[in-house]
Amino acid sequence: MTTQVNKSLLELNPLSESIYGEFSLLSEDDAILFASIKNEGILEPLIVTKSHLVISGNRRLRVANFLNEIENVPVIYSEIDDDDVTEYLFIQYNQQRIKNLIQVAREFELIRNHYKIKQGVKSQNSTISKTAQKTLIDDNDTSETTIKRILRAKNIKTTIETSFNDNKSWTDEDSWKWLHKQHCIRKKEVNTILNSLVEEKNEFSNSQNSEKKELLNNDFIHIIHGDSSDMSEFLDDKQVDCIPNSPPYFGAVRTYIQDDIFVKSSTKGLIQTGHEDTVDEYVENLMKTYRECKRVLKDTGSIFINIADTIEDGVIMNIPFHIIEAMKREGFMCVQTIVWYKINPQPINSNSFQPSMEYVLHFVKQKDYKWRVNWYESADEFIGNVTYADGGENKRFRNVMIYYPTNSNSSDIPMYQGLFQTTTYNNTFLVKLLKSKGYALQHNALFPLEVPMICVLSTTEPGDTVLDVFGGMSTTGLIAYANGCKYFGVDKSKVYSAKASIRMEEFLKNNPYIVNSSS
Ligand SMILES: C[S@@+](CC[C@H](N)C(=O)[O-])C[C@H]1O[C@@H](n2cnc3c(N)ncnc32)[C@H](O)[C@@H]1O
Repeated sequence: MTTQVNKSLLELNPLSESIYGEFSLLSEDDAILFASIKNEGILEPLIVTKSHLVISGNRRLRVANFLNEIENVPVIYSEIDDDDVTEYLFIQYNQQRIKNLIQVAREFELIRNHYKIKQGVKSQNSTISKTAQKTLIDDNDTSETTIKRILRAKNIKTTIETSFNDNKSWTDEDSWKWLHKQHCIRKKEVNTILNSLVEEKNEFSNSQNSEKKELLNNDFIHIIHGDSSDMSEFLDDKQVDCIPNSPPYFGAVRTYIQDDIFVKSSTKGLIQTGHEDTVDEYVENLMKTYRECKRVLKDTGSIFINIADTIEDGVIMNIPFHIIEAMKREGFMCVQTIVWYKINPQPINSNSFQPSMEYVLHFVKQKDYKWRVNWYESADEFIGNVTYADGGENKRFRNVMIYYPTNSNSSDIPMYQGLFQTTTYNNTFLVKLLKSKGYALQHNALFPLEVPMICVLSTTEPGDTVLDVFGGMSTTGLIAYANGCKYFGVDKSKVYSAKASIRMEEFLKNNPYIVNSSS
């Protein structure tokens, strides 16, 4: 039975706003409700408890409170006591409401919590709970997978704020509000929100882990956390024989957590190398490091830069050639461009053939640089298949590397007489190793072992010194050590330096038979 009650006696239900958001005339639904009540009054009675707590009709009451002309509102008294106005009952009374995905996810969780906590026999409850959840999902035309992704995103957001940002007052409630803003106002897809939260959480937990990690530093391996544009603290002038390296590529392709600054991929601006606005700024940033390389490199030494070109808006940026020109201005000579040809490149969508190669640019200070023609001994073993030109006594590798996945049968791959063939470095082991130490392997921008291998073996001898100025996970370090060289690996990211140490330590443990002649 409907009764008219003075609006001042009614108590707004706090649950309503926490689930459906605050009433706001900026929201279209709320503005429509306001206009309709102003013109026609409240047509549908509010459901309230005997002590006037609103179960359903919070927004109608909000509007009535705005309008001086409304004094009494229609209500129906429910039999339910205030204490029994559970979240679940509340949802039941609000089933007709049009909900966004975040609200549906919230209700989904409330139903689950309600049945888990409030009632007895588990199996029966889980059937009721599942039915209620299914009805909710069907009525709102969504899927359980999407809803579970939203719940996962909510939990991750709360963890990031409370555990990593040390924001102790942050609650699930705040995460719901945040999700609502991202999805309903900023119009971000659920998957996009979840993926970036997962990435952020991994970055944070990696970063926290790396704080505790002591970096590997022994007689022949030095993993250094620092900026390679200044290596004066640990490297003298003309100390290094070979510098194989792969800088971050231009175009904000990847993002590395560096010095605790987390920059989202796709963010541009001069925060990290690779994120600059223009090619010139990018190349100038790289030159800060390569100028320092010139100082530490012996006159007979070599720098190898592994770089891919960047396509922006369908247009090639010509990055390798900008680097060659800039290196010339610094006084280097480019003596060869090695092509690393990939059989399994990452697919791209554009009106072009599939980009399938990267460059390895070889720079020296003088024409008379150290070059070992006969470094490949018949007793040498390689991880991948290696073929070489039939050059009589002096076997010569060609300046093209062919790259194919380990799981493909090499007999399926056309044989290119004289080409240097490599297999893809398989990351499974590295992923497992890092996971066992509490790290997630992200932004997999490692080069395969064969890239630093051809650089180190062709230009160094055991006892020489190898440096990687964009050290990453020390792929170069593995090769340098295996070839009996000293290694310096510098990376601006603490996380990468920690991971590099873990990788090298494991390698040393598993390969005690490699005697490093520089010791
Ligand atoms: C493409 S990754 C190198 C991966 C490496 N080749 C490997 O296989 O592990 C580039 C690395 O350069 C690092 N980096 C970027 N700018 C740097 C700088 N100025 N000094 C030192 N490291 C830097 C990034 O943190 C990132 O780890």
